[in-house]
Amino acid sequence: SHVWLNGAVLPAEAAKISVFDRGFLFGDGIYEVMVRLQGRFFYGEAHWERLERNLEKIGIAYSVSLLRQNVSDLAQVAGLLDQDVLLYIQVSRGTAPRQHAFPKDITPTAFMYLLPFSLPDVNTKRMEVSVLPDQRWERCDIKMTSLLGNVMAKDSAVTGGAHEAVLVRNGKITEGSHSNVFFVKDGELFTHPKNRFILDGITRDITLELAGSLGIPVREEAVAQIDISQMDEAFLTGTSTQIAAIGRMGTHTFFEGSEIGPITQRLQQAFLALKN
Ligand code: PDD
Repeated sequence: SHVWLNGAVLPAEAAKISVFDRGFLFGDGIYEVMVRLQGRFFYGEAHWERLERNLEKIGIAYSVSLLRQNVSDLAQVAGLLDQDVLLYIQVSRGTAPRQHAFPKDITPTAFMYLLPFSLPDVNTKRMEVSVLPDQRWERCDIKMTSLLGNVMAKDSAVTGGAHEAVLVRNGKITEGSHSNVFFVKDGELFTHPKNRFILDGITRDITLELAGSLGIPVREEAVAQIDISQMDEAFLTGTSTQIAAIGRMGTHTFFEGSEIGPITQRLQQAFLALKN
């Protein structure tokens, strides 16, 4: 398979990055994930804008337009022009002798690859999720490549037989290890407000928009861990997750069997319709 690295499309084995790359040494980089379905990027503009915003947040000067212009070249060489694909993009601060402060005149390392992608069958599958402490830092709005807090939580969930971890900070559910979390209570939708404790998920935004158009009231308020058992429904959102119903969260079971809550179902159907 082929990847794009610093302006060139190369076989993956031929793509090399220095051991002094700050992405490797410090996790000093930003990434983005989007999917291309039937030839067009799903909410591509929002993903490119978020990438740009995140690079600005950590002071990496890199023009996202170079990446945008090169995706179809990469797709062509990789033989993936006609398939649904997932696009992974990463821009690190670049390579320099190891020192914590940002080096002057450093050139960012930019990298992207495509993977064949098929939409998961979320409309029948229900997620089981673990509830774990949110041990990450206080800038979870930055889509950075230092993901140790996320991968440790996810691994702990998977080891315990769950599909995903939902995280708790100061008694409140923030988000999943790689997804946002929603709850339904008495016909209203609840999700953590956009601030430094969660990633501003594009699928989260789409879901809020759909709720608006379906007349489902929304409260951007965090749900307390102790109130999970009072909620009627819960689901996860994310680019690869889509809208995935939660069957069990920690010790609480929302639905027995294969049932999916009515509001989750309406949102899933509306979400599916966006793709056609
Ligand atoms: N997940 N929260 C975290 C910590 C994430 O890593 C992600 C992205 C989300 C959802 O964001 P979006 O809807 O923009 O994908 C929330 C990966 C990229 C994914 O689900 O594919």
